Amino acid sequence: MSYSPPAGQSGIGHTRWATHGKPTESNAHPHATDNVAVVHNGIIENFRELRAELERNGAEFYSETDTEVVVHLVEFYLKNGYSPQDAVQASLPRLRGAFALAFLFKGHDDLLIGACKGSPLAIGHGNGEVYLGSDALALAPLTDTITYLEDGDWAVLTRATCVIYGTDGSVVPRETSKSDVSSLLADKANYRHFMAKEIHEQPTVVGKTLAHYLDVAAKRVALPVALPFDFNSIERISITACGTASYAGHIAKYWFERLARLSVEIDVASEFRYREAPLRRGDLAIVISQSGETADTLAALRYAKGQGLHTISVVNVPTSTIARESESVLPTLAGAEIGVASTKAFLCQLMVLAVLAIAAGRERGKLSEIDESKLVQELIEMPRLIAAALLVEPQIEKLARYIAAARAALYLGRGTSAPLALEGALKLKEISYIHSEGYAAGELKHGPIALVDEAMPVVVIAPYDGVFEKTISNMQEVAARGGKIILITDAKGASEATVDTLVTIVLPTMVASFTPMVYAIPVQLLAYHTGVVSGADVDQPRNLAKSVTVE
Ligand code: AGP
Repeated sequence: MSYSPPAGQSGIGHTRWATHGKPTESNAHPHATDNVAVVHNGIIENFRELRAELERNGAEFYSETDTEVVVHLVEFYLKNGYSPQDAVQASLPRLRGAFALAFLFKGHDDLLIGACKGSPLAIGHGNGEVYLGSDALALAPLTDTITYLEDGDWAVLTRATCVIYGTDGSVVPRETSKSDVSSLLADKANYRHFMAKEIHEQPTVVGKTLAHYLDVAAKRVALPVALPFDFNSIERISITACGTASYAGHIAKYWFERLARLSVEIDVASEFRYREAPLRRGDLAIVISQSGETADTLAALRYAKGQGLHTISVVNVPTSTIARESESVLPTLAGAEIGVASTKAFLCQLMVLAVLAIAAGRERGKLSEIDESKLVQELIEMPRLIAAALLVEPQIEKLARYIAAARAALYLGRGTSAPLALEGALKLKEISYIHSEGYAAGELKHGPIALVDEAMPVVVIAPYDGVFEKTISNMQEVAARGGKIILITDAKGASEATVDTLVTIVLPTMVASFTPMVYAIPVQLLAYHTGVVSGADVDQPRNLAKSVTVE
C-alpha cells in the first residue's frame, strides 16, 4: 500500500505509550473536536470527573482515553467565545496529573500551542518553522536549537513568534540553547541496530566519561563540579532510579560502602517517596537516569529535595528536567542512546558512580593517595577491557540460538555480580520477551531452584573473586538438577570451575573492584543476539518507551 504524507503547513502527532485505552485507532492521537485537536503525553488523573461534566454539557466522546477530555474542555471554552489562547489558559488549571500537550486550531493554521506539567516539552526553532517535541532527541532530525519549557509553562507559537507563559499567565523568559544531539549522531553507522552500535561504542564513551572526571597526570579523581557539601557530613546515601539505572545504583552501593565506608540505601524510584524512610536533612540523594525525564525518578528527586537532602543526578541528558532540578549534576557522556534498552548509558553510569565513590572515600580519609591511584589505574584500564570483552560476540551469537528456544532463563551472581544478574535478566526479557529472573546466587536454594530442570538455561556471572568458590557450589546445585549452565568468568575461573557447563565465556583477567563494567558486555550481547534470533524489534521492543514520562 503506497503512503502519501498528509498535505498541510502544520500538524501534530504522537507515538502514544498507552496508559488509558488499548492501542487502537479510536484511542490514537490526535483527538479532535470541531475546532481543536490535541496530542498528549502523560496522565490526566481527574479525567473521569471532567468527562462526566463535559458529557452533561453535551460533549460526545468516542475513545477510552484520558486525553480526550482535554480537547472537549478547550472546545467548551471556544464555543463560549474564548480565543484559542484564552481557551487553553482557562483549561490548563482544570487538569490534574501530568501532561505535555500540543494543540492545533481550525482556521488558525499558523498557530501551535503547547503546555507541560510533569511531562517534558521542548520548542524546536527551525528556519521559518517551529516545532514542539518531548526532548532534543525527538527534535534532532529537525533542528538543534531548543528551548526547554519549565513545569507549568505554556507556549503560543507561530512560524515567526514564540511567547512562553508561566502558570500565572505572565510572560516568562526561557533559555534557548544548541543541543548536541545532531541527526548525524542518531544513525546506525554500519550496524544493523542502534543497540548493536551502542554496545560497541562503550569502550569509547566509557573512556570519554572517565576522562571528564580524572586528573590523569596525577592519577586522581577530579569531579567537574564542586559539590556543595563535604562527604564527612554525610551519614547515609539514598540512591534511587528505575530499571537498568537502578541496577547501576545497586552496584554502586557496594562501591560506596567498600571504598568510602558510607552506608547506602537504594530504592526503585516508584517506591522511594512512599516508604517514608527516616531521612536526615543534609544527607545525600543520588538519582540516576539516562533520559533525565523518567517521571518516577523525577518525583523521587523532588521528594528528596523536600526532605532537605543534597541531590546529585547522574544523567545522560544535561538539559533534562532531572538535571535542571538537581542541586548537582554529574553527566554521563554516552552520547544519544537511541535503543530502548539502556547499554552504553548503563556502563557510563557505573563509571561516574565509581569515581564518585572514590572521591567520597578520599574525602572521608578512607582511601590513601596510593589506594586512589591504584583504583584510578583500574578505571583507566576499563576501555581496553571492555573492548576485549566485545571479542566474545561470535560465541554469544551461537549461544543466542539456544537461549531463544528457552521458555525462561535464570541469571545468578554474587557481590556486585548479583545486581548485574538482575540487569542481565531485564535485558533478556525486555529485548527477546523470554521470561528471565536474576537472583543473588545464594538465594537459589531458597526457592528459585525449584525452577531448574534440563530446559532451564542458567547464566552465572562469576569472575574469579572472593565469592567465586561459593558460586561454584551454587552451580553444582544447578548441574545436579540438569540445569544448563552458561558461565561468564575469567581464565582462572574457567580452570577452577569444577562443574560441567553448556558453555563458558572467558573474559579478560582483571582486578575485582569494578568487574560489572566488563561483565555487562556478554550480558548485553546475549540479550541483543537472542532478540535478533527471536525476530523481536530490538531497538523498540513492544510495550516499551525510551523515556517513561508517566508514573
Ligand atoms: C533499560 O534497558 C530499560 N529500557 C528501562 O529499565 C530504563 O532503564 C528505565 O526506564 C529508566 O530510564 P532512565 O534511565 O531514562 O531514567
